Amino acid sequence: MAEDSSFAIDRALRQELEGWRRAGLSHLPMPPRKRSAASPASASAKPATTRTPPSSNSFSRTTSPPASRTTSRPTTAPAASTTHALPVVSEPLPPSPHAAGSRDDREWRLNQLRQRVAACTRCQELASARTQTVFGVGNPEARFLFIGEAPGADEDAQGEPFVGAAGQLLNKIITACGLKREDIYICNILRCRPPGNRKPLPEEAANCREYLDGQIAIIDPDFIVCWGATAAQNLMGTEESIGRLRGRTFQHGRATVFCTYHPSYLLRNPAAKKDVWEDMKLFLKQAGLPVPA
Ligand code: URA
Repeated sequence: MAEDSSFAIDRALRQELEGWRRAGLSHLPMPPRKRSAASPASASAKPATTRTPPSSNSFSRTTSPPASRTTSRPTTAPAASTTHALPVVSEPLPPSPHAAGSRDDREWRLNQLRQRVAACTRCQELASARTQTVFGVGNPEARFLFIGEAPGADEDAQGEPFVGAAGQLLNKIITACGLKREDIYICNILRCRPPGNRKPLPEEAANCREYLDGQIAIIDPDFIVCWGATAAQNLMGTEESIGRLRGRTFQHGRATVFCTYHPSYLLRNPAAKKDVWEDMKLFLKQAGLPVPA
């Protein structure tokens, strides 16, 4: 009975929100979030001081995580977002026909989400200008999730994240770390290219948040690397600069989060490469991987 009534409330809420959305209302002002002076980052970005590196050196999982984690579906509300947007509420993905947490299951659910993203028109300016959406790419069982900002011209043309000049540099960093692109899953805060490569607007990040949360829930990474301020600030709901976020670790759900400079920034400021290398060494050490000298 209790489940029936909560289902009915859930459905009524979804219908109400959908009605508002159809009526053209996409965002509601909300009171600013209170921040504690002791913890400038939001609750979703807790410093991760107690995490023990795994003993295995493998880049991807060999065992399925517990079903309770793998059956989670995308969250519908932005987690501690700095934007004051009305959460976008979608229908849950249909149940996967595969064993929860298996590679097939992850691939199936990512494909369902990819189809939703391909049809998305939440950000009208972006949807009307894009060549295609850029969902994400990589190993659905990856332990490592890399998050960038948004597709650029090359990514918009090819439908894959980080394939342009910044992507070439990211590839070099991945190789220097002893990793391969196939060890990683890569996506962005936005799945459409902002015109002129401008920074994503807060409402665009909020509109796309459901897809990012969905990818995180499906891949269920051990480690997330945020490349640049846009990725770090949006993921964790903080306004701290990337210069202050890097060199530390945070907790986002089950994942330990690292933040570092964006490869595009490195192309403009090669002197910052040494900082990124320090960040990568910290990441590799915590991940239990060999740290190159
Ligand atoms: N920059 C990003 O942040 N993401 C991409 O996919 C490409 C460039």
